Amino acid sequence: MNTFDLSLLPASATVDDNGRVAIAGVDLESLAERFGTPLYVYDEADIRARCRAYRAALGDGVAYASKAFLCVAMARLVNDEGLHLDVASGGELHVALTAGFPPERIVFHGNNKSTAELRTALESGVGRIAVDSTDELARLESLVGAGLPAPRVHIRVTPGVEAHTHEFIETGTEDSKFGFGLDSGEALAAVQRVVGRGLLRFAGVHCHIGSQVFRLDSFERAVEKMVGLVHAIETETGSTVDELNLGGGLGVRYVTEDAPPTIEQYATVVRDSVGKALADAGVRSRPRLLTEPGRSIVASAGITLYTIGTIKAIEGIRTYVAVDGGMSDNLRPVTYGARYEAFLPARATAERSALVTIAGKHCEQGDIIVRDTLLPDDLAIGEVLATPVTGAYGQSLSSNYNKVTRPAVVFVRDGDARLVVRRETNSDLVRLDAEA
Ligand code: LLP
Repeated sequence: MNTFDLSLLPASATVDDNGRVAIAGVDLESLAERFGTPLYVYDEADIRARCRAYRAALGDGVAYASKAFLCVAMARLVNDEGLHLDVASGGELHVALTAGFPPERIVFHGNNKSTAELRTALESGVGRIAVDSTDELARLESLVGAGLPAPRVHIRVTPGVEAHTHEFIETGTEDSKFGFGLDSGEALAAVQRVVGRGLLRFAGVHCHIGSQVFRLDSFERAVEKMVGLVHAIETETGSTVDELNLGGGLGVRYVTEDAPPTIEQYATVVRDSVGKALADAGVRSRPRLLTEPGRSIVASAGITLYTIGTIKAIEGIRTYVAVDGGMSDNLRPVTYGARYEAFLPARATAERSALVTIAGKHCEQGDIIVRDTLLPDDLAIGEVLATPVTGAYGQSLSSNYNKVTRPAVVFVRDGDARLVVRRETNSDLVRLDAEA
């Protein structure tokens, strides 16, 4: 019997004898009725459990990478769990500050931060700025020269390490728009400038090798390269390095076959490799280890609910099951060829014998959510269909393509559902039009 793999559901999922799925005690189909579809549903306990797992494994140095999923409620949850927050634009910073996230626990990223964004960061007391370029160093120096408080800075480094992931999300190689090259000596030169001029406060070095990474040896190699840089910094500038930030990147299980390392395995490898590399290098620095997981905190907590609208069976070719969302709420299949699973929340344990392709409603043939997946063969129009493990980079990459309104976001916890982001309405679609 071929049935949906229930282990792809979030931690608090339960399935009754009829195969009805509830998350945190809240029936998924009833959520679709109450809030409409498409709908992003998050299991709050699942997110919190992962925040706690990271903290337990790596202590007070974990920043949630907000680009994976951010709204005011999420920023507050992250603060509640005692994590730091990584923001990568003035907009993410604004959401974080609106949520009351403590600025000193925020790290600000981006390869082209504007002077205005940097000014806001300095004025609001952002804890760390990961400096990405010489141009940015000059911008920061002139802001400090003009009287703004000197920020703590990390130098973002491209360590020249392959992450073995999709090339669009591989960022640690020399050919990257991010950061200062390590092998070229640019990273060391940037530290020399910060330490030598004394305008900015040098706090440490940062790298992020890529995202959806399954191979822990890629992180080990990054650690070795970064500790080599720590050694060079000590020798060339006399300064020690207080913080070593390894970015994010731990992969998640989207489909049954995926086998990423656990948070604990990842943490053990990075902790041990940092310890060993520091000892081997014989350096004085004992930098605090910082990390920035995004995907591995929120991906598995999220489920997207859709309603089936049309079914087109092309004899001998394929059956398209079209739902009321698509690439506007989940861009990942189109962009990265990402794979997902699908299930019917009212009968998740039903036998699956129909090979179908789940399409969105956008005017693009490529608007496919799940290619070639199994579902029960008596699918009905109007039935709710769900895609699990859609909590990361779904809502945050969402768009209004074809002027489709963006879904609402609901958090479920202890039998209750609460709306944390309301659904867009058609009037939102013309809200910014100067001539509407
Ligand atoms: N830190 C930095 C500096 C980053 O650039 C990123 C992700 C992270 C942390 C978090 O990485 P994570 O733990 O989530 O892998 N839209 C793509 C992912 C882009 C990732 C960009 N940077 C996707 O949907 O796969």
